Amino acid sequence: MRVLGIETSCDETGVAVYDSERGLLGHHLYSQIQLHSEYGGVVPELASRDHVRKLLPLVDQLLDETDSKGKIDGIAYTSGPGLIGALLVGSCVGRAIAFGWGVPAIGVHHMEGHLLAPMLEDNPPAFPFVALLVSGGHTQLVRVDGIGQYQLMGESLDDAAGEAFDKAAKMMDLDYPGGPHIAKLAERGTAGRFTFPRPMVDRPGLDFSFSGLKTYTLNTVTEHALENGLPDDQTCADIAYAFQEAVVDTLAIKCRRALKEAGMTTLIIAGGVSANKRLREKLEKDLQKINSRVFYARNEFCTDNGAMIAYAGCQRLLAGQAEGLAVKVKPRWPLADLPAVVK
Ligand code: KG4
Ligand code: ZN
Repeated sequence: MRVLGIETSCDETGVAVYDSERGLLGHHLYSQIQLHSEYGGVVPELASRDHVRKLLPLVDQLLDETDSKGKIDGIAYTSGPGLIGALLVGSCVGRAIAFGWGVPAIGVHHMEGHLLAPMLEDNPPAFPFVALLVSGGHTQLVRVDGIGQYQLMGESLDDAAGEAFDKAAKMMDLDYPGGPHIAKLAERGTAGRFTFPRPMVDRPGLDFSFSGLKTYTLNTVTEHALENGLPDDQTCADIAYAFQEAVVDTLAIKCRRALKEAGMTTLIIAGGVSANKRLREKLEKDLQKINSRVFYARNEFCTDNGAMIAYAGCQRLLAGQAEGLAVKVKPRWPLADLPAVVK
């Protein structure tokens, strides 16, 4: 089965063609970063309008490049969670194309897309496993027994990990999205100059909280600020280092705890923050010690992309699931509400 995947939940227009026999045939991503940069965050209305402009030309180009015109058997589009206007663009376009071509369509849960992205790699993990979903909007630990068999084990009570990276970056006048900028700055940081708190690790359970760490970061920045309102360059790097270590450590502690609680030895990390090199290194080292393994997707499939949506949608379409003609988007949508895929 050959599936066209469409991702428009936030500020990235992603398209991909996935074939259940041949794998990923091609994909494209158009990022709106430039468009939103002067606002320091995503402006929902601008995002929707840009998806309208970019989506169809991208689809057309990809179908040509992958020789898929007339060969698509199903369409998958992100139908939630995300920005409602942005979701509506991809969902309406996807549903309409499917109707025009007489093929089935499926609305995909954005976080299920992230969760299954490591399956696009050469040595994919086998079920069951624990998934750490770390994106700009979510920080969740999920027990995964199969596709659509998700049990929430813990989540952030306030900011998501990616959001914390973005806010810490903003405090030091770095561009949005801040994660990659903090990570780059941290490479020059001095270990041990600052030690930031590891929130909620002393308490039992698998929930997270990043708002205290955010305040601690802001206080440190303010305390060392020069006349221009920012600390000197090296101090910013040292703060970025300490911040990243605190987030990575906190996530790693909870991942080990979740594996133990689930009685499992496989962890997958997914979502934008799973592109973080330090997080990957730390988990690889920690999990080796407890005879466990961590899996993640290549960098471009950690952040938002169409390939993960095409893959997830393909699995559901193969299982006979499909949407009716009505276009339904769900800005809020718990993962646990998804139906299981029984093969
Ligand atoms: O999954 P994603 O692309 O979009 C959402 O679904 O939210 O995640 C974006 C988030 C942003 O907060 C961004 O700062 C963060 O992922 N991110 C990173 C890195 N790359 C992206 N955070 C830390 N280190 C990175 N290398
Ligand atoms: Zn995402």
